[in-house]
Amino acid sequence: MPAITQELPAPNRTKPLFDSNDVTVIFVLGGPGAGKGTQCANLVRDYGFKHLSAGDLLRAEQDREGSQFGDMIKEYIRDGKIVPMEVTVQLLENAMQDAIDNEGNKRFLIDGFPRKMDQALKFEEAVCLSKFTLFFDCPEDVMQERLLNRGKTSGRSDDNAESIKKRFKTFVETSMPVVKHYEKEGKVVIVDATPTPENVYEDVKKKFAEKGIEEKA
Ligand code: C5P
Ligand code: MG
Repeated sequence: MPAITQELPAPNRTKPLFDSNDVTVIFVLGGPGAGKGTQCANLVRDYGFKHLSAGDLLRAEQDREGSQFGDMIKEYIRDGKIVPMEVTVQLLENAMQDAIDNEGNKRFLIDGFPRKMDQALKFEEAVCLSKFTLFFDCPEDVMQERLLNRGKTSGRSDDNAESIKKRFKTFVETSMPVVKHYEKEGKVVIVDATPTPENVYEDVKKKFAEKGIEEKA
């Protein structure tokens, strides 16, 4: 495998690139199939956030002609493993800079990230401190059913029974510790993701209001 640091060095800074008083970052976590993307779309519509999905950015990089990481990303995604964080952190930083420069949007929902402690620490050290983490809590049997359904049309290489099993394992072993870490800091907003998308969104809106985050005029 080529050295990741050749083309996408992990940002090496002692201070975050963006000031969290100026740039808002909300992490959106939850198991695969918990409904993160669906709820983020609602929040973009009503609150004007910029939605950045780490998984979508990785899939785009995987398909980008000339990417030296394409094959590596493909393998990690199929196996439900977490891609080395240098790649993901840099893709997010680039996408944030782009949204700030070209859309003037400084409010971000960062979906499916951080999925591993090293991502969380590196991002907050080098890119931006998060405001809080929105966590969609959902039982595995519900997520499994949603993913298998989605797999009929998503065309995703990892929406199949075998990959789903691996993704659940990664979620429990690698991503839940991130949620626990932010819980200890009192920075997690938990939403029950079992009900219908409409009911889940009602709860999200209520909790955002409690956090002082207002809808677009
Ligand atoms: O969030 P999503 O389900 O789209 O992520 C798909 C895959 O992308 C994950 O299973 C994982 O392989 C990779 N990924 C990652 N690090 C992240 C987000 C996604 O490695 N922070
Ligand atoms: Mg998603």
